[in-house]
Formats: sequence, C-alpha cells, structure tokens
Amino acid sequence: MNWFLIGFSGSGKTTLGKRLAESIGYDFWDLDALIEEREKQTITEIFEQKGEPYFRNCETFYLKHLPISKNRVVATGGGTPCFNKNIDWMKLYGKLIYIKADEAILFDRLTIIKNNRPLLNHFNSEELKAYISIVLKQREPCYEQADFLIESNKDEDTSLKELLSFVK
Ligand code: S3P
Repeated sequence: MNWFLIGFSGSGKTTLGKRLAESIGYDFWDLDALIEEREKQTITEIFEQKGEPYFRNCETFYLKHLPISKNRVVATGGGTPCFNKNIDWMKLYGKLIYIKADEAILFDRLTIIKNNRPLLNHFNSEELKAYISIVLKQREPCYEQADFLIESNKDEDTSLKELLSFVK
C-alpha cells in the first residue's frame, strides 16, 4: 500500500509524512530527497543547471521507480501531482492525502524556507504572497482530487491524529 501526501510547498508533507510512516510502521520516502540523492545534485542545482522540464521528468521517473517496499508513505513535491499526469499514476497505485494549509500560513513558512526552493528563492515578500495566491488557485483543482484532505493549520499532533484516522 502507498500513501501519497500532496500539497503546496510548506504545507508540511515531509514533517507529517515522516511521523505518519513512523506511527504505522511504513517506509518513508521524500520524493525531492530521493531525486537529490539519485541525481547527486540539489533540487536548486537541477533547476538552475538543467531547467524545470528536466526536473519534472526526473520527478515522474523517480515517482514511478520508488525503492521497492511493501508499504510506503511518500511525501511528494508541491508540483508532483500537477505534472505529467502523475496524479493518475498515484491514484492507480495508492491513496492520496491533500495536506492543505492557508495562504497566510504558507506565506509564513515559505518566507523562512524559500531559499531552498528554486521556484521561490528570487521573490521578495510581495512577490511570494502573489505567487502563493496565484499558483495555489491553479493547483488546487488537482490537489482536491485526493482521497482525503487534512488541514495542516492546526498543531502537528492534531494533524497526525487526523491522518491516522484515514490510514488505520
Ligand atoms: C516544487 C516544490 C518543491 C520541489 C520543487 C518544485 C513546486 O517541493 O519539488 O522545488 O513545483 O511547487 P516542496 O513541496 O517540498 O517544497
């Protein structure tokens, strides 16, 4: 069984995914971390040196070639479900959970971590706010195709409890 966590950058997919996997005894994979390990480059370097289309192909390839395991929790990248029909593939091979966070919370979190996000690192505050608002609206119809949704605006323990209620 695969549980795929989807949602915008900064929504908490990796943090919650790790805790979920630990709680249910599944293997945990972070798709971005897997790409970095296999490609021997950071996501930022891949974007800068090879461009977004190359990254999107990598994302699809490593999604479809996840390390063999019986049971996995997979934290995907913010764009993963929205490119190359990856969402259809994930739906075939598992269940999807949309980790949803408000724009204001995404803004606060991404202001802190944006330097490691190649799509965001060149934005000032105003631009970041506008990007979140525009791209979230574009991607939400895709994210909303998930089987389950949790709001990650609450504290982490509450979000984990909600996740466990779907998974168990
Ligand atoms: C991206 C989100 C990132 C990473 C890449 C592209 C996106 O993942 O995959 O920088 O398109 O929104 P996170 O959701 O972990 O930030």
